[in-house]
Amino acid sequence: MSQTAQIIINGKTFELPVTVGSADEEAIDISKFRGQSGVITLDRGFKNTGSCESAITFLNGEKGILRYRGYPIEQLADKSTFLEVSYLLIYGELPTSTELESFAKEITSHTLVNEDIKKILDGFPSLAHPMGVLSSLVTSQTAYYPQSLLPNRPEEEINLSIIRLLAKMPTFAAWAYKKKIGHPVIYPNNSLDYCSNFLHMMFALPADSYEVDPVVANALDKLLILHADHEQNCSTSTVRIVGSSQASLWASIAAGINALWGPLHGGANQAVIEMLEGIKADGGDTKKWMAKAKAKDDPFRLMGFGHRVYKNFDPRARIIKKAADDVLNQLGVTDPVLDIAKGLEEEALRDDYFVERKLYPNVDFYSGIIYRALGIPTEMFTVMFALGRLPGWIAQWKEMREKGEPIGRPRQIYVGENERDYVDTAKR
Ligand code: SDX
Repeated sequence: MSQTAQIIINGKTFELPVTVGSADEEAIDISKFRGQSGVITLDRGFKNTGSCESAITFLNGEKGILRYRGYPIEQLADKSTFLEVSYLLIYGELPTSTELESFAKEITSHTLVNEDIKKILDGFPSLAHPMGVLSSLVTSQTAYYPQSLLPNRPEEEINLSIIRLLAKMPTFAAWAYKKKIGHPVIYPNNSLDYCSNFLHMMFALPADSYEVDPVVANALDKLLILHADHEQNCSTSTVRIVGSSQASLWASIAAGINALWGPLHGGANQAVIEMLEGIKADGGDTKKWMAKAKAKDDPFRLMGFGHRVYKNFDPRARIIKKAADDVLNQLGVTDPVLDIAKGLEEEALRDDYFVERKLYPNVDFYSGIIYRALGIPTEMFTVMFALGRLPGWIAQWKEMREKGEPIGRPRQIYVGENERDYVDTAKR
């Protein structure tokens, strides 16, 4: 027997259906509540409100569970590859070897971008942040593929845009980096796998032969898997709401890139390293910085700590922390900020302020340390997050469009001036 919930307001009782998900999560469906009662609900930051029903990613913040299409993140990070996980998220099932081979081959054949992209790059000053360059380059593709702007395109055309996005994002990301450091761009090398091709475009020089270190490529592949999707986070919700207006996949992904950029979201991985370096430069006094993070009147926050949903360990942080140790050992790299990070984590996990608020390290706390060990510069960290999150954004956009979700348009409670008459300025 399906459950219901009751809301009693203005002396009237309203009965609302309760939706139960496949993991027994419950939601009060308020879709018809305003029509029945004239009353809306208010939930700043959507902390308690579901925007959709989705079959892509499940996470349980209290238990620290994360699954892509039912597969635990720990198993995917350990056994899968980023392209296989991308296929799983976008198409719903793990691919056969033939399907994966064809998927990888299609992506490889679309890695090249129009030469005019260099003219767009030249329009940016070298101090431009790579995230701004990346979102601009993604938006620019609407000019090269105007057909993709038309709503309700046939499945094969949408799939071509999906392949083009997955194929060209590494090229855009690497070219944004080359632009920043004033080096000539490096073209895709289609004899390399996805991550090796990206690393080659990032670090090769026209004159030199550059060999990708398999340790680095494997570590990057694992990091991209761990970032691939995370249900209705800020940037994914942005992709869905922009897509709900029937804006193209390119425009929706560009919006997601810009939402991810913020330091409270994907920009945190850059902010974590800048914070750790600041603490190191300040003499490494972690107790002083912990006190600042707890002080109400101090805007400083312990970046990489806390999460809207995880009120236990972020399972990705646990995997990345171990990977950080492994990669640094394999590469023979020591990084003093790793010791500062571990010290901060140990102190925070013993501190009442953090324990009471259930603030644990999140995905961004250790990822920057690995990116740094892989030779990726700090300003490119959030670009790496975007590269990883791309298949998740695509999968969520595709699900929203296939389900014919309505255009997203939240309500509000108006708190401004009530009606008043205009007064001629001359007499004011
Ligand atoms: C990502 O949503 C996702 O899934 C995101 C993500 C993904 O994969 O897409 O997981 C990726 O964005 C991870 C989060 C990266 N951001 C950071 O590391 C920035 C630092 N963390 C915070 O700013 C904060 O924890 C948020 C933004 C992540 C979550 O903020 P909430 O849920 O809105 O919580 P809040 O700001 O209301 O904080 C609750 C309390 C407050 O104290 P009180 O007012 O109750 O006294 O906890 C405190 C906050 O001041 N607090 C922190 C803190 N985070 C929260 N205090 C110090 N340091 C922190 N990092």
